Amino acid sequence: MFFVKFYNREVLKNFLLPVLFLLMLVGCALSGTAGKAGSPEEGMIVGKAYSHGVKNDYLAGLHIRNEYVSGCSDCHGKSVDVDDSETELNKSCRNCHGTYDEFKAKIKQEQKGHKGPVKVSGHEGHLIDVSCTACHSGHSGSFPYCNYCHSFDMKIPFAKAKTPYVPENLSYYYDKEPNRVETADVLVIGSGGSGLMAAGVAANAGKKVIIVEKMPVIGGSSILSTGGMNAAGTKIQHEKGVMNDSPEIMVKDTLAIGKTNDVALVRILAERSNEALEWFINAGANLTLNPKVKTGGTTVPRSHYTETGAIGQYMIPILLKELRKTGNDVRTNSKAVMLKTDADGRVTGALIYGKHSGLYEVKVGATIIATGSYANNQALVTQYNPQLKDIITTAQPGSHGDGVVMAEKIGAKAINMENVQIHPNAAAGTSIMVTQNMRIGGGILVNKSGKRFMDDLAPRNKMGEEILRQEGQSVFLIYDDNVAKLRKKVHEGYIHLNFVTTASTPEEMAKKLGLPVDAFVSTMKNYALFYKNQKDTDFNRPTISEPLTNGNLYAIEVIPGIGGTLGGVAVNTKMQVLDENNQPIKGLYASGEVVGGWHGEDRYGGNAVAGNLVFGRLSAESAMESLGK
Ligand SMILES: Cc1cc2nc3c(=O)[nH]c(=O)nc-3n(C[C@H](O)[C@H](O)[C@H](O)COP(=O)(O)OP(=O)(O)OC[C@H]3O[C@@H](n4cnc5c(N)ncnc54)[C@H](O)[C@@H]3O)c2cc1C
Ligand code: HEC
Ligand code: HEC
Ligand code: HEC
Ligand code: HEC
Repeated sequence: MFFVKFYNREVLKNFLLPVLFLLMLVGCALSGTAGKAGSPEEGMIVGKAYSHGVKNDYLAGLHIRNEYVSGCSDCHGKSVDVDDSETELNKSCRNCHGTYDEFKAKIKQEQKGHKGPVKVSGHEGHLIDVSCTACHSGHSGSFPYCNYCHSFDMKIPFAKAKTPYVPENLSYYYDKEPNRVETADVLVIGSGGSGLMAAGVAANAGKKVIIVEKMPVIGGSSILSTGGMNAAGTKIQHEKGVMNDSPEIMVKDTLAIGKTNDVALVRILAERSNEALEWFINAGANLTLNPKVKTGGTTVPRSHYTETGAIGQYMIPILLKELRKTGNDVRTNSKAVMLKTDADGRVTGALIYGKHSGLYEVKVGATIIATGSYANNQALVTQYNPQLKDIITTAQPGSHGDGVVMAEKIGAKAINMENVQIHPNAAAGTSIMVTQNMRIGGGILVNKSGKRFMDDLAPRNKMGEEILRQEGQSVFLIYDDNVAKLRKKVHEGYIHLNFVTTASTPEEMAKKLGLPVDAFVSTMKNYALFYKNQKDTDFNRPTISEPLTNGNLYAIEVIPGIGGTLGGVAVNTKMQVLDENNQPIKGLYASGEVVGGWHGEDRYGGNAVAGNLVFGRLSAESAMESLGK
């Protein structure tokens, strides 16, 4: 009786079936047979594919076969539906293997007492809290992300060959249908300095913000900024005795370098630079200034930098912290592929391609493009500058100009695209930029004949061109211990990277570098004399802050590289993207390196970081104004 009653239809429907179904789901997930979409057939295929066969031949298979894990769920958690940022997976890796701090402690221990150049591990470096799966794949080959810029000898388990990041033809997506729609107030495309700043401002004002980043790591080229941040009339300048700066002078200096800059934007940058610096300091930045150093032919020292290393490494974590305080985070492995517009031409958001979740639409009131440069888009660079074919770039590998391509597709105007910045400072044989501050702080450039060949503080474009005219198209950056002390951390980094030749005298240096000894020795002697007289009678270097006679001499071989790009979408002073008729495209804003015109023909070093903070904020403020209260 009871038995029969127990199995009556009501109980079956309300209790047993759901429980059975739940048990099945849990079981599937744990044994790895759950389907992505939850359908049983698909589930079987997924389970097979990942527990046998080729996908099982990699890291996941190794963990399963050797019983490092008890099943898929040890890595995947409750479901094998992987989110685009691979958040759950990364939590699992860290649960078993430890955090970067623990890895670093181990590395330090291993390197203790070690003499000579040390091997760089994939678990150190300057990218901020990278996800483990940016390098370690679960079901296919792995590649150490560091080597998109460096050329470290890294032995990652299940190594695969490098597949370069190449620009994708976004027209592929134009007729594709999204699999879902998400809504928010603001969409920010790109997680560099300007994207994170804009997102933080909007999120702090209570807006719902979605931030997408196509790369597996956060920070864009911004995270690589080594030099400084320009700001005029600051407290730090005053503390260092620099009393004669003002926004007007910063505008003048910027225009002297860039020549064709959009003056209205430069004015905003200069006028709001101090406020941005104050904000940065209040958010935790500890900056300083060298009152002896004027950058790039400018008239006043205003490059604010940190003594602990590169400014970008400093800025991105601070911006991220501000953003995360609001509960927001960046979706990595999430690429915007097309802007969406309504019948009136107003931008309503974008199509996003997520690594795992596929194509979806984000619907918002305002979209901010902060996609950075097109330095790594050979086709786009050479379309305007055929002579720049095959020149390396020191920008991050995802610098493909997607923002410009997407905006042009819906009628935006792109300007100054031919203005590509060549800088003289890439370490030969790598894509790593050596900061101009080693020159500005006192270093000089010497060619293969052991001679200086130009004013080492000339605008960067000019220097790049000049180096290409020298023998071997590479030259040596020479500095001494006094200069090294100004940027101790950065210098130590170059030693760590094995870029640096060290010598105690000019003779020894010439021999080590294979330069004509007499020529190099007399170059150094003359230069010390120039310092004494404060006059460079050869090339008229405007400031000679060091005689280069203190302590050791250091040399780094450098080549020109594309540092960044200066063209991009046209905007008005509210950072609204403009169409061919200079009318704002409703709902669309831009900030950072994707914006054309504000740097003119040449970027004044240190203005980009300032621009990240100033224009990032401004674009968010304008976007919010358009949303209404
Ligand atoms: C090595 C180096 C050193 C530098 N040093 C300095 C310095 O000292 N001072 C200074 O002022 N400037 C410096 N610069 C320049 C400066 O870093 C950049 O101009 C600036 O940081 C650009 O910021 P951004 O936010 O506009 O772009 P980025 O920081 O490049 O960020 C753009 C982000 O958008 C992402 N993205 C692109 N397309 C898409 C898409 N379709 N969907 C989703 N995401 C996308 C990118 O992957 C990237 O992460 C340096 C640049 C380099 C490369
Ligand atoms: C349940 C614990 C656990 C989880 C979760 C886990 N691992 Fe492991 N993993 C191990 C153990 C145990 C070993 C073997 C001992 C060792 O090398 O630490 C191992 C080995 C490795 C190795 C060395 C492989 C080799 O060739 O020797 C790598 C790399 C690795 N894991 C990466 C990862 C990554 C990345 C993740 C996250 C996607 C992850 N592990 C998740 C426990 C785990
Ligand atoms: C930038 C690329 C990169 C990232 C990110 C990365 N690894 Fe690795 N991993 C490597 C390389 C390269 C090796 C080979 C040994 C080395 O270089 O230290 C390695 C080796 C390992 C090993 C085996 C040997 C060892 O050193 O213990 C484990 C385990 C491992 N990684 C786990 C992780 C975990 C967990 C994370 C995230 C916290 C992570 N890795 C993030 C590149 C990376
Ligand atoms: C060592 C950790 C680990 C184990 C164990 C593991 N995976 Fe994964 N899995 C990953 C990582 C990491 C990814 C992210 C994509 C990649 O790197 O291949 C992933 C991705 C996936 C995806 C999404 C693939 C896609 O293209 O979107 C599925 C489905 C999946 N795993 C299924 C399984 C199943 C089923 C099992 C058990 C048989 C399993 N995984 C065991 C680490 C693991
Ligand atoms: C997008 C390009 C890029 C990537 C990716 C990258 N780096 Fe770098 N790296 C640079 C640049 C540029 C510098 C020079 C910065 C400076 O002048 O301080 C640098 C400097 C360094 C230095 C010397 C300074 C220091 O901090 O000691 C080390 C070591 C280093 N990188 C390790 C790594 C490791 C490890 C990874 C992977 C986890 C990595 N890098 C990924 C561009 C990159």
